[in-house]
Amino acid sequence: EGGDKPPAQTWSFSGPFGKYDRGALQRGLKVYKEVCSACHSLSYVAFRNLADPGGPGYSEAQATAFASEYKIKDGPNDQGEMFERPGRTADYFPAPFPNEQAAAAANGGKAPPDLSLMTKARSYERGFPQFVIDFFTQYQEQGPDYVDAILQGFEDKPPAGVTVPEGTYYNKYFPGHAIKMPKPLSDGQVTFDDGSPATVKQYAHDVTTFLMWAAEPHMEARKRIGMQVFVFLIIFAFLMYFTKRKVWADAH
Ligand code: HEM
Repeated sequence: EGGDKPPAQTWSFSGPFGKYDRGALQRGLKVYKEVCSACHSLSYVAFRNLADPGGPGYSEAQATAFASEYKIKDGPNDQGEMFERPGRTADYFPAPFPNEQAAAAANGGKAPPDLSLMTKARSYERGFPQFVIDFFTQYQEQGPDYVDAILQGFEDKPPAGVTVPEGTYYNKYFPGHAIKMPKPLSDGQVTFDDGSPATVKQYAHDVTTFLMWAAEPHMEARKRIGMQVFVFLIIFAFLMYFTKRKVWADAH
């Protein structure tokens, strides 16, 4: 049995001219760091990416400072020992658990999935090539709408007559309604320094925007180039048309 249909949200990145909201990316990073990263890895994102164009808009220095707050396991060194060192921009976000088994053991038998490509999971399920998905933007938004909904879909009491198995939590939007993720967000949990509301709704929106960027870091460039290609093709079509008229002008 499926979950309820996630409500459609408004996303700054939707449509052919869509861009990431920098503020939302930065706030979403904070939500990931302070909440989700306790259980979920983000293994395909490196600290250096935080300073990439089209991303959260941090400087190299800021990305370096951010990375250095993490402890990264490294080694073996000359003595054959493993050791920990501060993170560098070349490192990827470290995973909260050493492996899948440990992650599952700590979470009631189900490992929290890596979040790097989470916002794309739903779109790919449709089996269309990515450019088709993006052209019909409602499909592009299906993934983010779902992640946003899951984070807000927890209910303390399941509806009358519904029970969920021990160790699972009722979630309106999760297929089957019984999810092994405990409600991760509550109001006031994360503090934003830009005055944005400290609400579950805001956290969900921001962390989903951040995860969309994680999955599609080159989206802005891709859309920009796509538009340039369209403009070029229109001009080129006119050029070809008048060239053809000229070349064939004397043909009888
Ligand atoms: C599953 C997001 C925090 C544990 C998931 C899924 C998403 C997600 C999108 C996949 C749902 C699906 O399969 O359709 C997030 C976000 C978080 C967060 C954005 C931070 C705001 C946490 C925390 C924990 C956790 C703090 C651990 C205490 C899990 C587990 C699953 C899961 C165990 C697997 C659930 C299942 O398949 O039954 N999470 N999560 N998550 N998450 Fe989280």
